Amino acid sequence: ILFQLDQLRKQVPIPVWYTALPTPVRVLFWVIALPALIIGLNVFQQVALPRNKSLPPIVFHYIPWFGSAAYYGEDPYKFLFECREKYGDLFTFILMGRRITVALGPKGNNLSLGGKISQVSAEDAYTHLTTPVFGKGVVYDCPNDMLMQQKKFIKTGLTTEALQSYPPMIRAECEDYFTKTLGISASKPTAKKVDLLHAMAELIILTASRTLQGNEVRESLNGSFAKLFEDLDGGFTPLNFMFPNLPLPSYKRRDVAQKAMSDFYIKIIENRRKGEKDHEPDMIDSLQGCKYKNGVPLTDRDIAHIMIALLMAGQHTSSATSTWALLHLAHSPELYETLYEEQKTLFGNPDGTFRDITYQDIKSCKHLDSVIRETLRMHAPIHSIYRKVMSEIPVPPSLSAPSEQSTYVIPKGHFIMAAPGVAQMDPLIWQDAKVFNPTRWLDEAGVAAAAVEQYSKSEQVDYGFGAVSKGTESPYQPFGAGRHRCVGEQFAYVQLSTIISYIVRNFTMNLEVPEFPKTNYRTMIVQPFDPYVSFTLRKQDV
Ligand code: HEM
Repeated sequence: ILFQLDQLRKQVPIPVWYTALPTPVRVLFWVIALPALIIGLNVFQQVALPRNKSLPPIVFHYIPWFGSAAYYGEDPYKFLFECREKYGDLFTFILMGRRITVALGPKGNNLSLGGKISQVSAEDAYTHLTTPVFGKGVVYDCPNDMLMQQKKFIKTGLTTEALQSYPPMIRAECEDYFTKTLGISASKPTAKKVDLLHAMAELIILTASRTLQGNEVRESLNGSFAKLFEDLDGGFTPLNFMFPNLPLPSYKRRDVAQKAMSDFYIKIIENRRKGEKDHEPDMIDSLQGCKYKNGVPLTDRDIAHIMIALLMAGQHTSSATSTWALLHLAHSPELYETLYEEQKTLFGNPDGTFRDITYQDIKSCKHLDSVIRETLRMHAPIHSIYRKVMSEIPVPPSLSAPSEQSTYVIPKGHFIMAAPGVAQMDPLIWQDAKVFNPTRWLDEAGVAAAAVEQYSKSEQVDYGFGAVSKGTESPYQPFGAGRHRCVGEQFAYVQLSTIISYIVRNFTMNLEVPEFPKTNYRTMIVQPFDPYVSFTLRKQDV
Protein backbone atom coordinates (compact mmCIF):
# COMPACT_ATOMS: atom_id res chain seq x y z
CA ILE A 1 0.00 0.00 0.00
CA LEU A 2 2.82 2.36 0.95
CA PHE A 3 4.49 1.66 -2.37
CA GLN A 4 1.28 2.38 -4.26
CA LEU A 5 0.70 5.56 -2.28
CA ASP A 6 4.23 6.64 -3.12
CA GLN A 7 3.56 5.96 -6.82
CA LEU A 8 0.31 7.93 -6.58
CA ARG A 9 2.09 10.83 -4.89
CA LYS A 10 4.61 10.91 -7.77
CA GLN A 11 1.81 10.96 -10.35
CA VAL A 12 -0.38 13.59 -8.62
CA PRO A 13 1.34 16.95 -8.72
CA ILE A 14 1.37 18.58 -5.29
CA PRO A 15 0.03 22.16 -5.58
CA VAL A 16 2.51 24.92 -4.94
CA TRP A 17 0.33 26.57 -2.28
CA TYR A 18 0.47 23.33 -0.26
CA THR A 19 4.25 22.98 -0.43
CA ALA A 20 4.54 26.62 0.64
CA LEU A 21 2.67 25.92 3.89
CA PRO A 22 4.70 25.55 7.10
CA THR A 23 4.52 22.03 8.58
CA PRO A 24 2.14 22.87 11.51
CA VAL A 25 -0.34 24.40 9.05
CA ARG A 26 -0.06 21.32 6.82
CA VAL A 27 -0.86 19.12 9.82
CA LEU A 28 -3.84 21.35 10.67
CA PHE A 29 -4.97 21.14 7.07
CA TRP A 30 -5.11 17.34 7.23
CA VAL A 31 -6.74 17.35 10.65
CA ILE A 32 -9.62 19.26 9.07
CA ALA A 33 -9.57 17.82 5.56
CA LEU A 34 -9.41 14.12 6.40
CA PRO A 35 -12.57 13.97 8.58
CA ALA A 36 -14.35 16.23 6.06
CA LEU A 37 -13.39 13.81 3.29
CA ILE A 38 -14.56 10.77 5.30
CA ILE A 39 -17.88 12.44 6.18
CA GLY A 40 -18.30 13.62 2.57
CA LEU A 41 -17.75 10.09 1.22
CA ASN A 42 -20.14 8.64 3.80
CA VAL A 43 -22.87 11.15 2.86
CA PHE A 44 -22.23 10.61 -0.86
CA GLN A 45 -22.56 6.85 -0.43
CA GLN A 46 -25.90 7.24 1.35
CA VAL A 47 -27.53 9.80 -0.93
CA ALA A 48 -26.02 9.11 -4.36
CA LEU A 49 -25.19 5.41 -4.60
CA PRO A 50 -27.98 2.90 -5.26
CA ARG A 51 -28.81 0.88 -2.17
CA ASN A 52 -29.49 -2.84 -1.89
CA LYS A 53 -33.28 -2.98 -1.99
CA SER A 54 -33.48 -6.17 0.03
CA LEU A 55 -31.88 -4.47 3.06
CA PRO A 56 -33.86 -2.23 5.41
CA PRO A 57 -33.23 1.50 4.86
CA ILE A 58 -30.27 2.95 6.78
CA VAL A 59 -30.88 5.97 9.00
CA PHE A 60 -29.01 8.93 7.53
CA HIS A 61 -25.87 9.76 9.52
CA TYR A 62 -22.79 11.87 8.94
CA ILE A 63 -20.02 10.04 10.78
CA PRO A 64 -19.28 6.45 9.76
CA TRP A 65 -18.88 3.90 12.61
CA PHE A 66 -20.25 6.41 15.17
CA GLY A 67 -23.51 6.62 13.21
CA SER A 68 -26.60 7.73 15.12
CA ALA A 69 -25.09 7.02 18.56
CA ALA A 70 -25.45 10.56 19.90
CA TYR A 71 -29.06 11.04 18.85
CA TYR A 72 -30.20 7.56 19.89
CA GLY A 73 -28.30 7.74 23.20
CA GLU A 74 -29.68 11.12 24.17
CA ASP A 75 -33.36 10.35 23.60
CA PRO A 76 -34.06 6.93 22.08
CA TYR A 77 -37.83 7.43 21.85
CA LYS A 78 -37.55 10.78 20.03
CA PHE A 79 -35.06 9.14 17.66
CA LEU A 80 -37.22 6.05 17.11
CA PHE A 81 -40.49 7.94 16.59
CA GLU A 82 -38.78 10.29 14.10
CA CYS A 83 -37.19 7.39 12.23
CA ARG A 84 -40.54 5.62 12.11
CA GLU A 85 -42.02 8.72 10.45
CA LYS A 86 -39.28 8.65 7.79
CA TYR A 87 -38.60 4.99 7.22
CA GLY A 88 -41.56 3.00 8.56
CA ASP A 89 -41.48 0.24 11.19
CA LEU A 90 -38.23 -1.32 9.97
CA PHE A 91 -34.90 0.45 9.55
CA THR A 92 -31.22 0.05 10.37
CA PHE A 93 -29.08 2.51 12.25
CA ILE A 94 -25.36 2.53 12.95
CA LEU A 95 -24.33 2.44 16.59
CA MET A 96 -20.59 2.53 17.09
CA GLY A 97 -19.81 0.02 14.41
CA ARG A 98 -22.83 -2.17 15.04
CA ARG A 99 -25.68 -2.39 12.54
CA ILE A 100 -28.88 -2.29 14.56
CA THR A 101 -32.07 -3.13 12.70
CA VAL A 102 -35.05 -1.79 14.57
CA ALA A 103 -38.39 -3.57 14.19
CA LEU A 104 -41.19 -1.50 15.69
CA GLY A 105 -44.82 -1.99 16.63
CA PRO A 106 -46.51 -5.24 17.61
CA LYS A 107 -45.38 -6.95 14.36
CA GLY A 108 -41.80 -5.77 14.91
CA ASN A 109 -41.80 -6.95 18.53
CA ASN A 110 -42.95 -10.33 17.29
CA LEU A 111 -40.10 -10.50 14.79
CA SER A 112 -37.38 -10.07 17.41
CA LEU A 113 -38.89 -11.24 20.71
CA GLY A 114 -40.71 -14.12 19.01
CA GLY A 115 -37.77 -14.91 16.68
CA LYS A 116 -36.62 -18.48 16.16
CA ILE A 117 -33.67 -19.63 18.24
CA SER A 118 -31.78 -20.38 14.99
CA GLN A 119 -32.26 -16.75 13.89
CA VAL A 120 -31.88 -14.56 16.98
CA SER A 121 -29.66 -14.87 20.04
CA ALA A 122 -29.81 -12.91 23.29
CA GLU A 123 -26.62 -14.60 24.49
CA ASP A 124 -24.60 -13.21 21.61
CA ALA A 125 -26.07 -9.74 22.15
CA TYR A 126 -25.50 -9.50 25.90
CA THR A 127 -22.86 -11.89 27.17
CA HIS A 128 -20.01 -9.34 26.93
CA LEU A 129 -21.96 -7.07 29.30
CA THR A 130 -23.51 -9.57 31.69
CA THR A 131 -20.94 -12.36 32.13
CA PRO A 132 -18.30 -10.13 33.80
CA VAL A 133 -21.05 -8.99 36.21
CA PHE A 134 -23.11 -12.14 36.87
CA GLY A 135 -20.24 -14.59 36.49
CA LYS A 136 -19.66 -17.63 34.31
CA GLY A 137 -21.93 -20.56 33.50
CA VAL A 138 -25.33 -18.88 33.85
CA VAL A 139 -27.83 -16.69 31.97
CA TYR A 140 -26.05 -15.57 28.75
CA ASP A 141 -22.88 -17.56 29.39
CA CYS A 142 -24.52 -20.88 28.61
CA PRO A 143 -26.67 -22.36 25.84
CA ASN A 144 -30.23 -21.00 25.69
CA ASP A 145 -31.69 -24.34 26.74
CA MET A 146 -29.77 -24.09 30.04
CA LEU A 147 -31.02 -20.55 30.63
CA MET A 148 -34.59 -21.75 30.14
CA GLN A 149 -34.01 -24.39 32.83
CA GLN A 150 -32.39 -21.82 35.15
CA LYS A 151 -35.53 -19.67 34.73
CA LYS A 152 -37.59 -22.69 35.70
CA PHE A 153 -35.47 -23.12 38.85
CA ILE A 154 -36.00 -19.43 39.69
CA LYS A 155 -39.74 -19.81 39.22
CA THR A 156 -39.83 -22.71 41.65
CA GLY A 157 -38.34 -20.34 44.23
CA LEU A 158 -41.09 -17.82 43.59
CA THR A 159 -44.04 -19.95 44.59
CA THR A 160 -47.32 -18.42 45.75
CA GLU A 161 -46.39 -19.53 49.25
CA ALA A 162 -43.08 -17.64 49.09
CA LEU A 163 -44.73 -14.54 47.59
CA GLN A 164 -47.38 -14.66 50.34
CA SER A 165 -44.73 -14.46 53.01
CA TYR A 166 -43.09 -11.31 51.61
CA PRO A 167 -45.45 -8.33 52.27
CA PRO A 168 -44.98 -8.25 56.08
CA MET A 169 -41.19 -8.42 55.64
CA ILE A 170 -41.25 -5.63 53.04
CA ARG A 171 -43.48 -3.49 55.29
CA ALA A 172 -41.09 -4.00 58.20
CA GLU A 173 -38.14 -2.89 56.05
CA CYS A 174 -40.10 0.22 54.95
CA GLU A 175 -40.89 1.09 58.57
CA ASP A 176 -37.26 0.76 59.53
CA TYR A 177 -36.05 2.77 56.57
CA PHE A 178 -38.44 5.70 56.97
CA THR A 179 -38.02 5.99 60.72
CA LYS A 180 -34.35 5.15 61.17
CA THR A 181 -32.63 6.02 57.87
CA LEU A 182 -34.78 8.94 56.76
CA GLY A 183 -35.59 9.95 60.33
CA ILE A 184 -39.30 10.63 59.83
CA SER A 185 -41.29 9.62 62.90
CA ALA A 186 -44.11 10.85 65.13
CA SER A 187 -41.55 12.77 67.18
CA LYS A 188 -40.13 14.39 63.99
CA PRO A 189 -43.15 14.68 61.67
CA THR A 190 -41.93 17.68 59.60
CA ALA A 191 -41.46 17.45 55.81
CA LYS A 192 -38.29 15.66 54.78
CA LYS A 193 -36.84 16.27 51.31
CA VAL A 194 -35.27 13.21 49.68
CA ASP A 195 -33.70 12.12 46.42
CA LEU A 196 -36.43 9.62 45.60
CA LEU A 197 -34.39 7.49 43.20
CA HIS A 198 -31.67 7.09 45.80
CA ALA A 199 -34.21 6.25 48.51
CA MET A 200 -36.02 3.72 46.31
CA ALA A 201 -32.72 2.08 45.27
CA GLU A 202 -31.97 1.57 48.98
CA LEU A 203 -35.46 0.27 49.76
CA ILE A 204 -35.47 -2.13 46.82
CA ILE A 205 -32.16 -3.73 47.76
CA LEU A 206 -33.20 -3.90 51.43
CA THR A 207 -36.52 -5.55 50.64
CA ALA A 208 -35.13 -7.87 47.94
CA SER A 209 -32.44 -9.09 50.29
CA ARG A 210 -34.83 -9.55 53.19
CA THR A 211 -37.09 -11.70 50.99
CA LEU A 212 -35.44 -13.31 47.94
CA GLN A 213 -31.78 -13.09 48.77
CA GLY A 214 -31.86 -14.28 52.36
CA ASN A 215 -30.84 -13.16 55.82
CA GLU A 216 -27.09 -13.36 55.32
CA VAL A 217 -27.23 -10.88 52.43
CA ARG A 218 -29.59 -8.62 54.37
CA GLU A 219 -27.30 -8.62 57.39
CA SER A 220 -24.27 -7.76 55.27
CA LEU A 221 -25.95 -4.85 53.52
CA ASN A 222 -24.64 -2.29 55.95
CA GLY A 223 -21.10 -3.44 55.47
CA SER A 224 -18.96 -5.02 52.77
CA PHE A 225 -21.82 -6.21 50.56
CA ALA A 226 -23.01 -2.66 49.81
CA LYS A 227 -19.55 -1.70 48.52
CA LEU A 228 -19.31 -4.87 46.41
CA PHE A 229 -22.72 -4.15 44.96
CA GLU A 230 -21.70 -0.58 44.10
CA ASP A 231 -18.54 -1.73 42.30
CA LEU A 232 -20.35 -4.48 40.45
CA ASP A 233 -23.10 -2.10 39.45
CA GLY A 234 -20.42 0.21 38.06
CA GLY A 235 -19.82 -2.51 35.45
CA PHE A 236 -23.39 -2.38 34.20
CA THR A 237 -23.35 0.82 32.17
CA PRO A 238 -23.81 1.78 28.50
CA LEU A 239 -20.01 2.16 28.30
CA ASN A 240 -19.62 -1.50 29.32
CA PHE A 241 -22.23 -2.46 26.75
CA MET A 242 -20.34 -0.69 23.96
CA PHE A 243 -16.81 -1.60 25.14
CA PRO A 244 -16.61 -4.86 27.15
CA ASN A 245 -13.01 -4.39 28.21
CA LEU A 246 -11.30 -1.07 28.71
CA PRO A 247 -8.26 -0.46 30.90
CA LEU A 248 -10.29 1.68 33.32
CA PRO A 249 -10.45 1.47 37.13
CA SER A 250 -14.23 0.83 37.03
CA TYR A 251 -13.65 -2.34 34.95
CA LYS A 252 -11.01 -3.53 37.40
CA ARG A 253 -13.31 -2.83 40.36
CA ARG A 254 -16.12 -4.74 38.59
CA ASP A 255 -13.92 -7.83 38.17
CA VAL A 256 -12.67 -7.76 41.77
CA ALA A 257 -16.23 -7.27 43.09
CA GLN A 258 -17.60 -10.10 40.95
CA LYS A 259 -15.12 -12.58 42.39
CA ALA A 260 -15.66 -11.35 45.95
CA MET A 261 -19.45 -11.42 45.68
CA SER A 262 -19.44 -14.85 44.10
CA ASP A 263 -17.23 -16.12 46.97
CA PHE A 264 -19.56 -14.43 49.47
CA TYR A 265 -22.56 -16.43 48.21
CA ILE A 266 -20.52 -19.64 48.13
CA LYS A 267 -19.59 -19.10 51.79
CA ILE A 268 -23.30 -18.70 52.62
CA ILE A 269 -24.11 -21.97 50.87
CA GLU A 270 -21.23 -23.82 52.57
CA ASN A 271 -22.20 -22.48 56.00
CA ARG A 272 -25.79 -23.48 55.47
CA ARG A 273 -24.72 -26.93 54.40
CA LYS A 274 -22.75 -27.27 57.63
CA GLY A 275 -25.95 -26.31 59.45
CA GLU A 276 -24.24 -23.23 60.91
CA LYS A 277 -26.98 -20.80 60.02
CA ASP A 278 -30.69 -20.81 60.72
CA HIS A 279 -32.53 -19.31 57.77
CA GLU A 280 -35.98 -18.69 56.33
CA PRO A 281 -36.82 -20.49 53.06
CA ASP A 282 -35.40 -18.27 50.28
CA MET A 283 -34.05 -18.42 46.73
CA ILE A 284 -30.65 -19.91 47.69
CA ASP A 285 -32.53 -22.61 49.52
CA SER A 286 -34.70 -23.32 46.54
CA LEU A 287 -31.81 -23.40 44.03
CA GLN A 288 -29.87 -25.90 46.13
CA GLY A 289 -30.82 -29.30 44.87
CA CYS A 290 -31.99 -28.13 41.43
CA LYS A 291 -30.84 -30.38 38.60
CA TYR A 292 -30.73 -29.86 34.84
CA LYS A 293 -32.72 -32.29 32.67
CA ASN A 294 -29.56 -34.31 32.07
CA GLY A 295 -29.24 -34.94 35.81
CA VAL A 296 -26.37 -32.47 36.38
CA PRO A 297 -26.99 -30.43 39.54
CA LEU A 298 -26.39 -26.68 39.84
CA THR A 299 -22.97 -26.14 41.39
CA ASP A 300 -22.50 -23.74 44.29
CA ARG A 301 -20.80 -21.36 41.84
CA ASP A 302 -23.83 -21.55 39.49
CA ILE A 303 -26.13 -20.72 42.41
CA ALA A 304 -23.91 -17.79 43.41
CA HIS A 305 -24.02 -16.42 39.87
CA ILE A 306 -27.78 -16.86 39.50
CA MET A 307 -28.23 -14.97 42.79
CA ILE A 308 -26.08 -12.10 41.47
CA ALA A 309 -28.09 -12.09 38.22
CA LEU A 310 -31.37 -11.86 40.17
CA LEU A 311 -30.01 -9.07 42.33
CA MET A 312 -29.01 -7.03 39.27
CA ALA A 313 -32.14 -7.87 37.21
CA GLY A 314 -34.53 -6.61 39.87
CA GLN A 315 -32.59 -3.72 41.34
CA HIS A 316 -32.72 -0.91 38.78
CA THR A 317 -35.92 -2.01 37.07
CA SER A 318 -37.90 -1.92 40.33
CA SER A 319 -36.24 1.14 41.82
CA ALA A 320 -36.84 3.14 38.62
CA THR A 321 -40.47 1.95 38.42
CA SER A 322 -41.26 2.81 42.05
CA THR A 323 -39.58 6.21 41.62
CA TRP A 324 -41.57 7.11 38.49
CA ALA A 325 -44.84 5.93 40.07
CA LEU A 326 -44.25 7.99 43.21
CA LEU A 327 -43.21 11.05 41.17
CA HIS A 328 -46.52 10.89 39.31
CA LEU A 329 -48.37 10.52 42.60
CA ALA A 330 -46.53 13.50 44.08
CA HIS A 331 -47.37 15.44 40.94
CA SER A 332 -51.06 14.62 41.17
CA PRO A 333 -52.40 15.06 44.74
CA GLU A 334 -55.89 14.05 43.63
CA LEU A 335 -54.65 10.70 42.34
CA TYR A 336 -52.61 10.27 45.52
CA GLU A 337 -55.70 10.78 47.65
CA THR A 338 -57.63 8.26 45.51
CA LEU A 339 -55.00 5.69 46.41
CA TYR A 340 -55.18 6.67 50.06
CA GLU A 341 -58.96 6.25 50.05
CA GLU A 342 -58.54 2.84 48.41
CA GLN A 343 -56.13 1.79 51.16
CA LYS A 344 -58.54 3.01 53.85
CA THR A 345 -61.51 1.23 52.27
CA LEU A 346 -59.74 -2.08 51.75
CA PHE A 347 -57.36 -2.25 54.71
CA GLY A 348 -58.33 0.39 57.28
CA ASN A 349 -59.02 -0.82 60.84
CA PRO A 350 -61.54 1.05 63.02
CA ASP A 351 -58.70 2.23 65.30
CA GLY A 352 -57.00 4.14 62.48
CA THR A 353 -54.34 1.54 61.75
CA PHE A 354 -54.09 -0.59 58.61
CA ARG A 355 -53.91 -4.33 58.22
CA ASP A 356 -51.03 -5.74 56.14
CA ILE A 357 -51.57 -6.05 52.41
CA THR A 358 -51.39 -9.69 51.29
CA TYR A 359 -50.34 -11.26 48.01
CA GLN A 360 -54.00 -12.00 47.20
CA ASP A 361 -54.98 -8.38 47.93
CA ILE A 362 -52.68 -6.94 45.32
CA LYS A 363 -54.98 -7.37 42.33
CA SER A 364 -57.95 -6.01 44.28
CA CYS A 365 -56.19 -2.65 44.73
CA LYS A 366 -57.52 -1.46 41.38
CA HIS A 367 -56.20 2.09 41.61
CA LEU A 368 -52.77 1.08 42.85
CA ASP A 369 -52.56 -1.61 40.16
CA SER A 370 -53.52 0.88 37.45
CA VAL A 371 -50.85 3.34 38.63
CA ILE A 372 -48.16 0.64 38.36
CA ARG A 373 -49.38 -0.47 34.94
CA GLU A 374 -49.52 3.07 33.63
CA THR A 375 -46.04 3.78 35.02
CA LEU A 376 -44.69 0.73 33.21
CA ARG A 377 -46.46 1.82 30.01
CA MET A 378 -44.87 5.26 29.97
CA HIS A 379 -41.58 4.50 31.71
CA ALA A 380 -40.69 0.92 30.73
CA PRO A 381 -37.29 0.59 32.47
CA ILE A 382 -35.73 -1.18 29.47
CA HIS A 383 -36.14 0.92 26.33
CA SER A 384 -34.24 -1.30 23.88
CA ILE A 385 -34.05 -5.09 23.74
CA TYR A 386 -31.34 -6.46 21.44
CA ARG A 387 -30.74 -9.82 19.79
CA LYS A 388 -27.85 -10.82 17.54
CA VAL A 389 -29.00 -12.06 14.13
CA MET A 390 -27.53 -15.57 13.70
CA SER A 391 -29.02 -16.39 10.29
CA GLU A 392 -30.82 -14.11 7.88
CA ILE A 393 -34.37 -13.16 8.78
CA PRO A 394 -36.88 -12.69 5.96
CA VAL A 395 -39.17 -9.83 7.01
CA PRO A 396 -42.92 -10.34 6.56
CA PRO A 397 -44.34 -7.95 3.91
CA SER A 398 -46.51 -6.27 6.60
CA LEU A 399 -43.33 -4.74 8.07
CA SER A 400 -41.92 -3.26 4.85
CA ALA A 401 -42.46 0.44 4.18
CA PRO A 402 -45.58 0.95 2.03
CA SER A 403 -43.60 2.63 -0.77
CA GLU A 404 -41.12 -0.24 -1.09
CA GLN A 405 -41.64 -2.82 -3.83
CA SER A 406 -39.48 -5.57 -2.36
CA THR A 407 -39.60 -7.27 1.02
CA TYR A 408 -36.60 -7.04 3.28
CA VAL A 409 -34.10 -9.49 4.69
CA ILE A 410 -32.17 -8.75 7.90
CA PRO A 411 -28.67 -10.14 7.32
CA LYS A 412 -26.70 -12.34 9.69
CA GLY A 413 -24.39 -10.23 11.84
CA HIS A 414 -26.86 -7.37 12.34
CA PHE A 415 -28.50 -6.83 15.70
CA ILE A 416 -32.28 -6.78 15.75
CA MET A 417 -33.79 -4.42 18.29
CA ALA A 418 -37.25 -4.29 19.84
CA ALA A 419 -38.44 -1.14 21.59
CA PRO A 420 -41.72 -2.14 23.27
CA GLY A 421 -42.00 1.40 24.67
CA VAL A 422 -42.73 2.69 21.16
CA ALA A 423 -45.87 0.53 20.86
CA GLN A 424 -46.69 1.40 24.47
CA MET A 425 -46.72 5.10 23.62
CA ASP A 426 -48.09 4.86 20.11
CA PRO A 427 -50.88 7.44 19.61
CA LEU A 428 -52.41 5.09 17.02
CA ILE A 429 -52.95 2.47 19.75
CA TRP A 430 -53.47 4.48 22.93
CA GLN A 431 -55.71 7.46 23.41
CA ASP A 432 -53.69 10.47 24.66
CA ALA A 433 -50.65 8.22 24.61
CA LYS A 434 -48.35 10.82 26.16
CA VAL A 435 -50.63 11.55 29.11
CA PHE A 436 -50.16 9.66 32.38
CA ASN A 437 -53.70 8.44 32.91
CA PRO A 438 -54.03 5.33 35.12
CA THR A 439 -57.82 5.38 34.73
CA ARG A 440 -57.37 4.07 31.18
CA TRP A 441 -56.74 0.68 32.84
CA LEU A 442 -60.02 0.87 34.75
CA ASP A 443 -62.10 1.49 31.65
CA GLU A 444 -63.10 -2.08 30.80
CA ALA A 445 -64.23 -1.11 27.31
CA GLY A 446 -61.11 0.96 26.67
CA VAL A 447 -58.20 0.25 24.39
CA ALA A 448 -55.85 -0.52 27.26
CA ALA A 449 -58.10 -3.20 28.66
CA ALA A 450 -58.50 -4.70 25.20
CA ALA A 451 -54.75 -4.76 24.69
CA VAL A 452 -54.18 -6.55 27.96
CA GLU A 453 -57.04 -8.90 27.26
CA GLN A 454 -55.37 -9.85 24.00
CA TYR A 455 -52.06 -10.19 25.86
CA SER A 456 -53.35 -12.51 28.53
CA LYS A 457 -55.41 -14.60 26.13
CA SER A 458 -52.69 -15.01 23.52
CA GLU A 459 -51.25 -18.40 22.66
CA GLN A 460 -49.66 -20.26 25.61
CA VAL A 461 -46.12 -21.52 25.01
CA ASP A 462 -43.68 -23.39 27.22
CA TYR A 463 -40.14 -22.34 26.35
CA GLY A 464 -38.78 -24.52 29.13
CA PHE A 465 -39.72 -22.49 32.21
CA GLY A 466 -43.46 -23.22 32.39
CA ALA A 467 -46.33 -22.14 30.17
CA VAL A 468 -46.53 -18.38 29.55
CA SER A 469 -48.66 -16.39 27.14
CA LYS A 470 -46.50 -15.80 24.08
CA GLY A 471 -47.49 -12.14 24.00
CA THR A 472 -44.89 -11.25 21.37
CA GLU A 473 -47.44 -9.19 19.40
CA SER A 474 -48.83 -7.35 22.38
CA PRO A 475 -48.62 -3.54 22.39
CA TYR A 476 -47.88 -3.72 26.14
CA GLN A 477 -44.67 -5.55 27.05
CA PRO A 478 -42.90 -3.90 29.99
CA PHE A 479 -41.73 -7.37 31.07
CA GLY A 480 -40.72 -8.44 27.57
CA ALA A 481 -42.22 -11.42 25.75
CA GLY A 482 -41.31 -14.81 24.34
CA ARG A 483 -38.55 -17.06 25.64
CA HIS A 484 -36.69 -14.24 27.44
CA ARG A 485 -39.77 -12.91 29.21
CA CYS A 486 -39.24 -11.72 32.77
CA VAL A 487 -39.71 -14.27 35.56
CA GLY A 488 -39.61 -11.59 38.25
CA GLU A 489 -42.93 -9.90 37.39
CA GLN A 490 -44.95 -11.27 40.33
CA PHE A 491 -42.16 -10.54 42.75
CA ALA A 492 -41.81 -7.00 41.37
CA TYR A 493 -45.57 -6.44 41.78
CA VAL A 494 -45.49 -7.63 45.41
CA GLN A 495 -42.50 -5.43 46.13
CA LEU A 496 -43.83 -2.32 44.36
CA SER A 497 -47.40 -2.65 45.69
CA THR A 498 -46.26 -3.14 49.30
CA ILE A 499 -43.79 -0.25 49.21
CA ILE A 500 -46.21 2.19 47.54
CA SER A 501 -49.05 1.15 49.89
CA TYR A 502 -46.82 1.77 52.88
CA ILE A 503 -45.92 5.25 51.65
CA VAL A 504 -49.50 6.20 50.70
CA ARG A 505 -50.81 5.08 54.11
CA ASN A 506 -48.25 6.95 56.14
CA PHE A 507 -47.16 10.08 54.28
CA THR A 508 -48.25 12.94 52.12
CA MET A 509 -45.85 13.81 49.32
CA ASN A 510 -44.80 16.97 47.55
CA LEU A 511 -42.81 17.33 44.36
CA GLU A 512 -39.77 19.45 45.27
CA VAL A 513 -38.82 20.48 41.72
CA PRO A 514 -40.53 23.18 39.62
CA GLU A 515 -41.61 20.80 36.86
CA PHE A 516 -42.12 17.06 36.43
CA PRO A 517 -38.64 15.45 36.12
CA LYS A 518 -37.27 14.80 32.64
CA THR A 519 -35.90 11.42 31.59
CA ASN A 520 -32.27 10.39 31.76
CA TYR A 521 -31.53 7.87 29.00
CA ARG A 522 -27.78 7.81 29.57
CA THR A 523 -28.05 4.97 32.07
CA MET A 524 -28.88 1.34 31.22
CA ILE A 525 -32.30 1.75 32.82
CA VAL A 526 -34.61 4.69 32.08
CA GLN A 527 -34.41 7.00 35.11
CA PRO A 528 -35.61 10.49 36.08
CA PHE A 529 -33.35 13.54 36.45
CA ASP A 530 -33.62 15.43 39.78
CA PRO A 531 -36.28 13.24 41.42
CA TYR A 532 -36.77 15.29 44.59
CA VAL A 533 -39.88 14.93 46.75
CA SER A 534 -40.68 15.57 50.37
CA PHE A 535 -42.50 13.22 52.72
CA THR A 536 -44.65 14.43 55.61
CA LEU A 537 -46.09 12.04 58.17
CA ARG A 538 -49.90 11.83 57.92
CA LYS A 539 -52.07 12.42 60.91
CA GLN A 540 -53.82 9.06 61.34
CA ASP A 541 -57.43 9.94 60.54
CA VAL A 542 -59.13 6.72 59.46
C1 HEM B 1 -36.20 -10.48 31.80
C2 HEM B 1 -38.33 -6.21 32.78
C3 HEM B 1 -38.03 -7.17 37.55
C4 HEM B 1 -35.59 -11.23 36.58
C5 HEM B 1 -36.79 -9.25 31.68
C6 HEM B 1 -37.09 -8.61 30.41
C7 HEM B 1 -37.68 -7.42 30.68
C8 HEM B 1 -37.77 -7.28 32.13
C9 HEM B 1 -38.16 -6.39 29.67
C10 HEM B 1 -36.81 -9.20 29.03
C11 HEM B 1 -35.39 -8.93 28.59
C12 HEM B 1 -35.10 -9.46 27.20
O1 HEM B 1 -36.00 -9.92 26.49
O2 HEM B 1 -33.93 -9.38 26.78
C13 HEM B 1 -38.46 -6.14 34.16
C14 HEM B 1 -39.15 -5.07 34.85
C15 HEM B 1 -39.07 -5.33 36.20
C16 HEM B 1 -38.32 -6.57 36.34
C17 HEM B 1 -39.84 -3.90 34.18
C18 HEM B 1 -39.61 -4.58 37.37
C19 HEM B 1 -40.48 -3.60 37.33
C20 HEM B 1 -37.36 -8.34 37.69
C21 HEM B 1 -37.07 -8.98 38.96
C22 HEM B 1 -36.37 -10.11 38.69
C23 HEM B 1 -36.22 -10.20 37.24
C24 HEM B 1 -37.52 -8.45 40.31
C25 HEM B 1 -35.85 -11.16 39.63
C26 HEM B 1 -36.40 -11.48 40.75
C27 HEM B 1 -35.56 -11.39 35.22
C28 HEM B 1 -35.01 -12.54 34.54
C29 HEM B 1 -35.20 -12.34 33.16
C30 HEM B 1 -35.86 -11.05 33.03
C31 HEM B 1 -34.35 -13.76 35.20
C32 HEM B 1 -34.90 -13.33 32.05
C33 HEM B 1 -33.80 -12.92 31.11
C34 HEM B 1 -33.78 -13.78 29.88
O3 HEM B 1 -34.49 -14.78 29.76
O4 HEM B 1 -33.00 -13.45 28.98
N1 HEM B 1 -37.20 -8.42 32.71
N2 HEM B 1 -37.97 -7.02 35.08
N3 HEM B 1 -36.83 -9.11 36.68
N4 HEM B 1 -36.07 -10.52 34.28
FE1 HEM B 1 -37.09 -8.82 34.68
